[in-house]
Amino acid sequence: MTTHKHSHAQWGSRLGFILAAVGSAVGLGNIWRFPYMVGQNGGGAFVFTYLICIAVIGFPILIAELMVGRRGQSNPITAMSRVAEQNNRSSAWGGVGFMGVLAAFLILAFYSVIGGWGVNYIVKVGMGDFAGISADAVGNVFNGMLGNAKELLIWHTVFMSLTILIVAFGVTSGLEFASKLLMPLLGICLVAMVGYGAFSNGFSATLDYLFSPRFGDINAEVILSALGHAFFTLSLGMGVMISYGSYLGREINLLRTASVVVVMDTGIALLAGLAIFPIVFANQLDPSHGPGLIFITLPVAFSQMGGGLVIGVIFFSLLTFAALTSAMSLLEPVVELLEEKTPLNRAFSTIISGAVTWLLGIAALLSFNEWDSFKIFGLGIFDFLDTLTGKFMLPLAGLGVIIFVGWFMHRKIIREELHLGNTGELIWQIVARFIAPIGVIIVFVSQLLELLNYQLADILAYFT
Ligand code: PHE
Repeated sequence: MTTHKHSHAQWGSRLGFILAAVGSAVGLGNIWRFPYMVGQNGGGAFVFTYLICIAVIGFPILIAELMVGRRGQSNPITAMSRVAEQNNRSSAWGGVGFMGVLAAFLILAFYSVIGGWGVNYIVKVGMGDFAGISADAVGNVFNGMLGNAKELLIWHTVFMSLTILIVAFGVTSGLEFASKLLMPLLGICLVAMVGYGAFSNGFSATLDYLFSPRFGDINAEVILSALGHAFFTLSLGMGVMISYGSYLGREINLLRTASVVVVMDTGIALLAGLAIFPIVFANQLDPSHGPGLIFITLPVAFSQMGGGLVIGVIFFSLLTFAALTSAMSLLEPVVELLEEKTPLNRAFSTIISGAVTWLLGIAALLSFNEWDSFKIFGLGIFDFLDTLTGKFMLPLAGLGVIIFVGWFMHRKIIREELHLGNTGELIWQIVARFIAPIGVIIVFVSQLLELLNYQLADILAYFT
């Protein structure tokens, strides 16, 4: 192989990796979850906390996961235990990977329900369901959808089937190719929507809302939500980045690559916020509306702007595409595991894990209608899955990885992986050993106390 070819191949693989990793990171988390989290957690207070969580916790854990993946060269569980053994530690560290895979499975169940909303909205917008109707009427369409189990089921099934097809046939290279085109297009579409919002009378309120935090609003709940969301949006704590790290060549600079992922992911989320809140404020909608936020606000804007129908269809198609590239990365670790640990081949592994996820997704979507009175710890099934994974499992798995890398990985390996100077290494040590893990632990313990408190109150209420 000539030097020229060699360097070309390296560049190609780096781009391919970045596309896959950004494809996993950028998804419903950025466009659906981020804005509604902001709305529910006091606007700027949340944005501020989230940015800090991304920088001091998410970024180092992303690097740590990629590093474990590159060293372990396997699925998250095997990679974790293998790297542990390389460092003379117990292979029980594989348990961290296991929790990640389990979390991926639980997340995909409700992720697919929302992905289904996205597909449904391509059709609704395209058929002109929202043309010229009031904000209230848009809200009614959304609530009608939530109340209709059959409708939710159909679109959840469509989304899950697409995910299964993509993963089963391994058409990921085609997807990677499509990402090159569609990801930038999603960015452009969002920028155009921000441009539209900039001329509305809700824009200065939006800037104020997002970027002038009232620090008094930052409480334990806000911090925990921000941390959980940082994990969710960067696809951390699920083994996904460990899997992806295993495809990274030795020559690739981890720090730089991780930075690209973080910047793109955060950029898209902030753009989504800037696109959505002007519509919220200009139409006096409620920012703390919850998971329905973008599905209630965006159609309002599309119904008002010229060419809104076409732009709306394009937007929800791009959203669905972004959701599919994330869903694919959520199913992959589960499939990989089944393939390696059972006699099933790839197609069967995908179909079986996809079918089980689909079933769990049905339970999640029923919690919006037929089963709305069924609660676990006071939460419906959908919210329960979201909370259990986002607030508990992801931070815990991420914590496991960063503690391992920070405390138990040989210095020599870190040096080989990160190529930092002395100062850089010192900063890395401080962040990986102290700042990131302690941050997660504080947030985590406070959440646990709150939950116990809640349970205690419940038990007491029962006896009095
Ligand atoms: N990061 C994705 C998003 O923001 C969701 C996701 C989470 C994907 C975990 C893969 C793994 O939409």
